[in-house]
Amino acid sequence: MKIKKAVIPVAGKGTRFLPASKNTPKEMMPILGVPMIQYVVEEAVRSGIEEIIFITSYGKETIIDYFDRNLELENYLREKNKDGDLKLVSNVGSMVEVVAIRQKEQLGLGHAILCAKTVIGSEPFAVLLGDDIVLGDIPATQQLIDLSLKNNMCSVVGVMNVSDKEVSSYGIVEGVQYLNERTLKMTKMIEKPKSYETASRLATPGRYIFSKEIFDYLEIIPKGSGGEYQLTDAINLMAKNQNVLSYLFEGERYDTGTIENHLVATIEFALKNEHYKKIIQEKIPYWSKKYEI
Ligand code: UTP
Repeated sequence: MKIKKAVIPVAGKGTRFLPASKNTPKEMMPILGVPMIQYVVEEAVRSGIEEIIFITSYGKETIIDYFDRNLELENYLREKNKDGDLKLVSNVGSMVEVVAIRQKEQLGLGHAILCAKTVIGSEPFAVLLGDDIVLGDIPATQQLIDLSLKNNMCSVVGVMNVSDKEVSSYGIVEGVQYLNERTLKMTKMIEKPKSYETASRLATPGRYIFSKEIFDYLEIIPKGSGGEYQLTDAINLMAKNQNVLSYLFEGERYDTGTIENHLVATIEFALKNEHYKKIIQEKIPYWSKKYEI
């Protein structure tokens, strides 16, 4: 069996990216000219995903349009012999099949994923959150799919190590070692605990594989913290009743959900690219003198 569908919830309000996110989805904010959501969709496609189900809300149409063809622009670029630009534009438009489902009220991440139930049906599926970009030779989602395939298509939660200070910003996974040191059988997931409330430093940055049963749990969870339906509550219920694994995936992960973190990611992405790195290098003597850095 293959995992062919991925759910990417983008219905949130993106308040940490205001004022830019007032009219433009934060997922469309670029890092070096590429919208953040494209990095996430590319990870899914490289992992074998053939269909993306975006959970959207009012004002997010540009995301769906972005992954559609723009034949008028393509014709214009063709006429002007702008082959490089033409390739960029047509590649994005034919990258993957896209389905959009409206989440009419923003009732939380758990509720957003439940909105995909009818489109997913009974297949296992991936979930990727757009706030996190993960770079690596083997895409993070691919690593989780591989583990799920080897374990009866069970649900897998992607985790990464965080510092004591960062624990209170994430869902933290507790579990017992399973198969190898990267893989745990999950016993519990705690939403944003204080660092002394758990010994675990394994955080969930937003990469998951779920079997269809996740929908049964999402349907029965009550509203949780913040008055929202929390995905964490459904995962906890699932882990009580069936095998849920966590996997410490390999890759460089960038949180891009806030203006500060987006800035850091932009600088790092630029430094990874010879062309942009050169521009920064040339500017450093001037900046260090002018701004005393
Ligand atoms: P966040 O909690 O990061 O919220 O949601 P947000 O709206 O994106 O951003 P801030 O905190 O206001 O700045 C995590 C993910 O879940 C989606 C968001 O779009 C984001 O990808 N989400 C959240 C939904 O799709 N629907 C919801 O009701 C809540």
